[in-house]
Amino acid sequence: MIHFHHIDLLAHFDRERIPERVVHARGAGAHGYFEVTHDLSDITSQPLLASVGKKVKATVRFSTVGGESGSADTARDPRGFAVKLRTEEGNWDWVFNNTPVFFIRDPTKFPHFIHTQKRNPQTHLKDADMFWDYLSQNPESIHQIMILFSDRGTPDGYHNMHGYSGHTYKWLKDDGSFVYTQLHLRADNGFKTLDDATATRLAGENAEYGIEALFNAIESGNFPSWTVYVQTMTPEQAEKFRYNVLDLTKVWPHSEFPLRPVGKFVLNENPQNYFAEIEQAAFSPSHTIPYIEPSADPVLQSRLFSYPDTHRHRLGVNYQQLPVNAPIVPVANFQRDGFMTFVSQGNRPNYQSSIRPLTYVSKKATIDSTVRDEARLARHEAFIGGAWRDLSEITELDFEQPRALWKKVWNDQQRQAYVNNVSGHFKNVKSPEVKARQLTVWAAVDQELSDRIADAIGHARVQPLNVKPASEAVKYRANLGFAFTFLGRL
Ligand code: HEM
Repeated sequence: MIHFHHIDLLAHFDRERIPERVVHARGAGAHGYFEVTHDLSDITSQPLLASVGKKVKATVRFSTVGGESGSADTARDPRGFAVKLRTEEGNWDWVFNNTPVFFIRDPTKFPHFIHTQKRNPQTHLKDADMFWDYLSQNPESIHQIMILFSDRGTPDGYHNMHGYSGHTYKWLKDDGSFVYTQLHLRADNGFKTLDDATATRLAGENAEYGIEALFNAIESGNFPSWTVYVQTMTPEQAEKFRYNVLDLTKVWPHSEFPLRPVGKFVLNENPQNYFAEIEQAAFSPSHTIPYIEPSADPVLQSRLFSYPDTHRHRLGVNYQQLPVNAPIVPVANFQRDGFMTFVSQGNRPNYQSSIRPLTYVSKKATIDSTVRDEARLARHEAFIGGAWRDLSEITELDFEQPRALWKKVWNDQQRQAYVNNVSGHFKNVKSPEVKARQLTVWAAVDQELSDRIADAIGHARVQPLNVKPASEAVKYRANLGFAFTFLGRL
């Protein structure tokens, strides 16, 4: 007779898999802590950021973006750098990448963009024509393409790299004032990279190179650590900034917006069970704590929706109750029941009850603040409305920071590595139109850069893409009476 335990095990085994993440499916993770080392009470009233010495527990998940869950750790790809901080006011997630900029600033492009970086619908192969077709039609991606095809596109393991918010956030104070912020996590041992040949070799010899290195570093007591910094920009600085404060294809020059230390981030504990503690982790930029808010950046605004939405698909409606995702403080809201509810809110009213009225902690810094400078906020809101509207224009401004990387930041060896890395991929494009168009994008960055790539793949040299002048990117300032200035040079 077949034993019930056998049938039960078979039935459970048949259901072991859950959907992998639609992007960032490949990853590695660990636990640790974030410690506040500097008092930031002059820029935010969030108590954690004034509590020097305070430590909060954290979980991190690093990832590649385009490959499936079993793909190689050393693929040329941006890396995800997602951190869940368990604070006394709920979870604060940093859902960052290892690059300070991103491919898009218009969120409607995201699914199109990702589809072209994944598999061809017919051949089920990665497709160089799709890949470069998209990028050549959307030249605001060129800054990220410069970084991606430098050796930073193949980091040496998951823990030897920096992390960046990329997006602009807002940190508020009780009086309703705020500064724009960007967070940086800088690896204390530096950003280590692999050259293209080594990354390719490792992808074949040891696809788990990154997962293994992270696990072994923690197991042997070599705890990976990062110093956390914040860049800040006042609304008035944003109004004068050379670039659009909502544009995540740009960096904020450190010379103008210095890195200010915030704390330490340390990984000192491996998961006991990868699936429960890392695969089931659900990060979202919408998981914030009081005084920390998203900016109006439309890509960030779209992400606020997309992550909880995909978690409900991937993990189920009660994904927030899973131990790795649950906040350390009790939850009180109106969400009830659904599949797999295992944290009950007891007999608390499940509606706005007058029989057992609820008490709320008063909101500070946002709509209920008392000492707000209304005129200042109204003026800035008008500015942000214009900044948001003009985000899609491609102009000369889009080529300045990539050009600075090519001409000023990189040395000869880094320039040559870029040409080699990019040519190795780009030479696989079959479409003559796509090839020529992408070369015009590089020529708009720098003619020599484009010529060197053209020579490397045996293509005729091309003229630069014709782009609008920088002034077209900032029309909204003139319309609103904000002066266009060139103060913010790199
Ligand atoms: C419109 C733009 C974007 C959309 C719609 C989007 C959407 C998504 C989705 C659906 C996932 C899968 C999440 C899961 O299944 O758990 C994901 C993962 C991720 N995304 Fe994005 N993304 C966008 C842009 C970005 C940007 C700009 C960054 C970084 C600055 C970023 C960082 C990450 C990271 C780190 C993960 C992996 C999280 C983890 O390890 O679980 N994404 N994204």
